[in-house]
Amino acid sequence: MIKLKGSIKISGDKSISHRALIFASLSTGKVKISNLLESDDVMRTLNILQELGIKIIKKNEKWIVYGNGTGGYIQPTQVLDCGNSGTSARLMMGAVASNPISCTFIGDDSLSKRSMSRLSIFLEKMGAEIKLTKKDFLPLHIKGDINLIPLEHVMQKASAQVKSAIILSALNLRGKTRIIEKRNTRDHTERLMSYLKIKFKKKILSKSSTSIELNGPYEIKPRDMIVASDPSSAAFFIVGALIIPESRITLKNIALNKSRIAFIDVLKKMGGKIRVKKNKTVSGENVGDINVTHSSLKSITIKASLSPYLIDEYPILSIAASQAKGVTVMRGLSELRHKESDRIRSIITNLSKIGYKVFSKKDDISIKGSNKIKLINQKKIKTYGDHRIAMSFVILSLIFKNKLIIDDESCISISYPDFKKHLKKLSTN
Ligand code: S3P
Repeated sequence: MIKLKGSIKISGDKSISHRALIFASLSTGKVKISNLLESDDVMRTLNILQELGIKIIKKNEKWIVYGNGTGGYIQPTQVLDCGNSGTSARLMMGAVASNPISCTFIGDDSLSKRSMSRLSIFLEKMGAEIKLTKKDFLPLHIKGDINLIPLEHVMQKASAQVKSAIILSALNLRGKTRIIEKRNTRDHTERLMSYLKIKFKKKILSKSSTSIELNGPYEIKPRDMIVASDPSSAAFFIVGALIIPESRITLKNIALNKSRIAFIDVLKKMGGKIRVKKNKTVSGENVGDINVTHSSLKSITIKASLSPYLIDEYPILSIAASQAKGVTVMRGLSELRHKESDRIRSIITNLSKIGYKVFSKKDDISIKGSNKIKLINQKKIKTYGDHRIAMSFVILSLIFKNKLIIDDESCISISYPDFKKHLKKLSTN
């Protein structure tokens, strides 16, 4: 069997890359961005910004964004195509809302089935005019306004995209905007704002709830940014090294943001031998190296309150669970139904097809691990066009030596175009 050995630098973080581009576009001059993730999703945001009049070029491996200030977007002449990218759609809706322009957002089939009203209700309360397809979906039309009303917003549902979109809309508004998150989510937007010296107040309301107060309009001075590497992309190789005998790898330059690496604690609780070493801070994010050694894993129950911190890692955690001793239970996964695919269905269909005992009850998934399954015939894995499902099963396929056939791997470029190249670099016989 192939084993994973050696060391690689993972590609830039997807969430931070979208935000780096958007904040650079809102700055008052030239910003250089290093280690930007050049994936399909991030390129959607980049192209949308270009449509909105922002000059962006690549020079010597760095992207240079010529910011036009907050409120500096110009009327686009074409529709803004978000492709598969929920982050592009939601963050850019927020970013354009306080500009006096009209925009039409479109997306691919998967994105056109994902809720946009979860954000538009907030923007509409502020005074933006939004027309959605069937009251919830793309294509949508938004008429922005520089005189939107700054308000207090209470977010019941955990969503970093919605929080960030409201923050982006508030940057160009005169007055106080307050956002109360009932359940905390990833905080890259806040970290970048601190790095860019955008003044805002953050208050811890309870263990899981925070408020953010902005007082705009802001002038954002240009400052170069470095994108830390993506922990969610690293997660595929981390699980790969844990489940494949004799593996031992080091992944470098990973963003060690607490709101993103909860999966490491989960895997450690399952018995995973993982060492994390912080070595520096780049553009407001802690980064470091992660060492992983093959381990025998045991099952665990993952409580629902962790779901906002594990939201992108459940597919690869379910692969870890399939190799662990006992039944792993993952609770409170309702949001997984609203991702690039219905990930509860994608996980269950594919694992059951291989022969694992997998059950779902409401929003929980239970997976009985086994290392006894031997495949005689090939099994076709359906990705449903979902990049994280595709990468998760590519990792599991390493155990089944060419017996798992992934129906479409092209979706991997949505978040990690270099995934196969990096996997090859780590693979040895
Ligand atoms: C993201 C937030 C998460 C995550 C997505 C990226 C972001 O979505 O699933 O891949 O960059 O803000 P929600 O927080 O909206 O669930």
